[in-house]
Amino acid sequence: MRNNLLLPPVLSYDRSGIFFTCLKALAALFASLVLLSSCTSEQKHAYSVQKVDHSSKGMVVAAHPLASKTGIEILEQGGNAIDAAIATQLTLAVVHPRAGNLGGGGFLVYLDSAGHSFVLDFREEAPGRSHRNMYLDSTGNVIEGLSFKGPLAAGVPGSVAGMEAAHNRFGRLEWKTLFGPAIRYASEGYPILQREADRLNKHKPEFLEWNDPGIPFIKEDPWMPGDLLCQPALAETLRKLAKGGAQEFYHGSTGDAIITTISGLGGIMQKADLQSYQAQWRDPMTTDYKGYTLLAMPLPSSGGIVLAQILEMLEHFSLGEYEQGSVRSIHLMIEAERRAFADRAGYLGDPDVIDVPVEKLLDSTYLAEKMHAFTFDTVTPSASISETDTSSLIEHFETTHLSVIDKDGNAVSLTTTLNDNFGCKVFVKEAGFFLNNEMDDFSIKPGIANYYGLIGNEANAIAPGKRMLSSMTPTIVAKQGKPFLILGSHGGPTIITSNLQVILNVIEYDMSLEEAVLRKRFHHQWLPDEVRHEAHAFSPAVRDSLEKLGHVFKQIQSFGAVPAILVTADGTYLGVADDRADDHAEGM
Ligand code: DON
Repeated sequence: MRNNLLLPPVLSYDRSGIFFTCLKALAALFASLVLLSSCTSEQKHAYSVQKVDHSSKGMVVAAHPLASKTGIEILEQGGNAIDAAIATQLTLAVVHPRAGNLGGGGFLVYLDSAGHSFVLDFREEAPGRSHRNMYLDSTGNVIEGLSFKGPLAAGVPGSVAGMEAAHNRFGRLEWKTLFGPAIRYASEGYPILQREADRLNKHKPEFLEWNDPGIPFIKEDPWMPGDLLCQPALAETLRKLAKGGAQEFYHGSTGDAIITTISGLGGIMQKADLQSYQAQWRDPMTTDYKGYTLLAMPLPSSGGIVLAQILEMLEHFSLGEYEQGSVRSIHLMIEAERRAFADRAGYLGDPDVIDVPVEKLLDSTYLAEKMHAFTFDTVTPSASISETDTSSLIEHFETTHLSVIDKDGNAVSLTTTLNDNFGCKVFVKEAGFFLNNEMDDFSIKPGIANYYGLIGNEANAIAPGKRMLSSMTPTIVAKQGKPFLILGSHGGPTIITSNLQVILNVIEYDMSLEEAVLRKRFHHQWLPDEVRHEAHAFSPAVRDSLEKLGHVFKQIQSFGAVPAILVTADGTYLGVADDRADDHAEGM
């Protein structure tokens, strides 16, 4: 078994004199030895991945087995769905470091057992010293990579404020209890899976570009599955947060470590940015579709609005009558997606900073009008909806979603992200975590595509304190006010269409949840004017017919995993973890 080695502390002289310096060094040495020994002991926390589970008492589906198990551990201690979701998210920050996070942000959708719904926005914000042209050179051209890598790419993190806001309002267990499992995995280490090893190896050059080699993610030899990953600095930060909460993160030594790291690399985030950060409770975005109610995020997530627009456009057609996977059903969905994503680019942004005509965008007459030119015989070229620059999409992106339901039927759908794998690649070494690169979700120049190929304009331009538009779409589908389906995904804009297809597979096509999740997917986002799809998303004959209608295809390796929970007719819970990743379903 390979292990990370902790370096011994360095002795130094300071103003408190040599005696105290030596004392401090000895204490540090002792602490390191304790950590070292816990990290080099026999392998602990072995686990295997489980894709499906059933339970009537509680269910957690998340991106890593240890994270799902954490949620169940918390439910078993008497925690509710909110407690379990927070603890699961904290463990993801340890065991799924490419996306789970303290240095990112996200959204939470909550439907309680009495049928009340709540949504929490803890999306990152642009720092106070940001400005709309900060990623452009003197001639107005985009400086390659500046919004995506390094200290200028990071938005002010929201995850810790979000977790605390959710806990203050709905948590049942003590805050510090929720940190137990995460601290355990960070300090004792856990064996990594093949996918994690691959990502760590792949990103090593970027880690080295922004960090010194002493961070836990860099080691001489390539990472192998089964290697133990120990994160002592992160364990220490988690201990501090367990005691000091968001105050410690935004006003305390953790915040200091973030700012010192960023400033040292020439970034612009300041302490004042951290100190003014607040998570926001917002009004849920609700959409009725054929007897179900979808609860999703409003702006600054585009997910709820885009999903609602697509469903409203589809509702005028008898989708269920066209066979699943048929030319008619796929063509119709693509055309609705194309139109909704054009509005995303044109109108959507942070509602606290700009006026967005949300009512108009969701108006049924407006949406019927948008489908006016639709015909089953041909495509509507995206250029005829509006003209903008296009650019191809890049795959391999990371975010993480978790779905939870407790024994009382309280449900949580929670998506958080660093944006790309390991965010901007800047690691706050002293505190043990990566910072996001969410600034790239702004429209850094009108009409220029971001990493996900998304076009934006004025509505999503950078401004100090503004939240960048997101596609994260944690969703709960309710039936008669009770949770029916809890889901979400990762994958940038494909999150919205992944959710859409799983929902339609279940409620229009009566598929089992396993089948609905595993079914291959496709996606259209207006620009670029192409249908992205997984292998075998269409039969050859269907693809041929769609091509004849004018659709252009681009195959990608994989869409994002959808961790989902279905409440079955007899009231029991079915958890399904997508095969596309290491997701794990664990029942109580
Ligand atoms: O908020 C957004 O829309 C993006 N930052 C999400 C990125 C993402 O899903 C990457 N994931 N796999």
